[in-house]
Amino acid sequence: MTKTMKGIVSSVAVASLLLFTGCGDNKEETKTAEAKPAAEKFVLKFSHVVSPNTPKGKAADYFEKRLEELSDGRIDVQVYPSSQLYKDNAVLKALKLDSVQMAAPSFSKFGKIVPQLALFDLPFLFKDVDHLHRVQDGEVGQKLKDMVTEKGYVALSFWDNGFKQLSSSTKPLILPEDAEGQKFRIMSSKVLEAQFHAVGANPQMMPFSEVYSGLQQGVIDGQENTNSNIYTKKFHEVQKYLTVTNHGYLGYLVVMSSKFWNSLPADLQEDVKQAMKDATDKEREYAAQLNNEQFNLIKEYAEKTGKLEIINLTDEQKNAWRDAVSKIYPEFYDKNSIGEDLIKGALATE
Ligand code: LMR
Repeated sequence: MTKTMKGIVSSVAVASLLLFTGCGDNKEETKTAEAKPAAEKFVLKFSHVVSPNTPKGKAADYFEKRLEELSDGRIDVQVYPSSQLYKDNAVLKALKLDSVQMAAPSFSKFGKIVPQLALFDLPFLFKDVDHLHRVQDGEVGQKLKDMVTEKGYVALSFWDNGFKQLSSSTKPLILPEDAEGQKFRIMSSKVLEAQFHAVGANPQMMPFSEVYSGLQQGVIDGQENTNSNIYTKKFHEVQKYLTVTNHGYLGYLVVMSSKFWNSLPADLQEDVKQAMKDATDKEREYAAQLNNEQFNLIKEYAEKTGKLEIINLTDEQKNAWRDAVSKIYPEFYDKNSIGEDLIKGALATE
């Protein structure tokens, strides 16, 4: 729907209107009009923090198109990217109040609601993206979604971004000891905090929207994120070294306001489910494709400007990182943090 039209449609269901096509005594026409009340319309605001040209950004736009098409325009989806509406975990409170209807926060941002989702933050937990999808689509993924549902949200689907890389403006990161004493931005996550403590670094919690200026002004030395988030927010332009570590995973849980969900008639709930299924299939494709393409663009920048060094680790160096950080797992065996059953269940997922 165009911006102007969007402005006109109210965010609450539009009251049914009785339209009388004729005037005077034409009973036949009056009867037809009464039998056809205008369909209820709904506005669904979808807030996220990344750029439109990222896996989440593109999938949100795809979802908008698909749901408007399936619902025949009865649901007007409005996507707000780049923290325009809500920053980081602030969106979860807004969803509870139905001030916004949909979001896809990264797992770390559920920390205060369902800390168990930090399972996905554990470094080197997943062998590859197929293993990760089997965990999400299997028993462990379902348990985590149920925990979110119990907290009063509608847990719709897991979305991918990808594996994270490490960067710094202070020192090349080749072995874990190179991180010692450096300040790294983290999302608010106990796991990420422990990960950086394990290598003697200083983790600093910071909202995504402030990372670029934090790096530029030297408030932090480095950060970790996916190629897509690094490229689209230009973090590589304010860093000197980028190490391809793929040490941890960044992904999302798409959630909806329960109040909004319960206000939808059954046929529109079915349309939401279908549009989400289609958007999730697309999202996985976008994630693989964009992280590849945008890594090549970072490489091009490095070659052209000579301002960024990209470091590829040997197997031995990568194993040193794995050994240094994966020893934190037992710290999260407690049920109130992640739980041994979920960690071991994910590791054992075939
Ligand atoms: C971050 O804060 O680094 C990410 O959660 C941003 C995102 O949503 O991908």
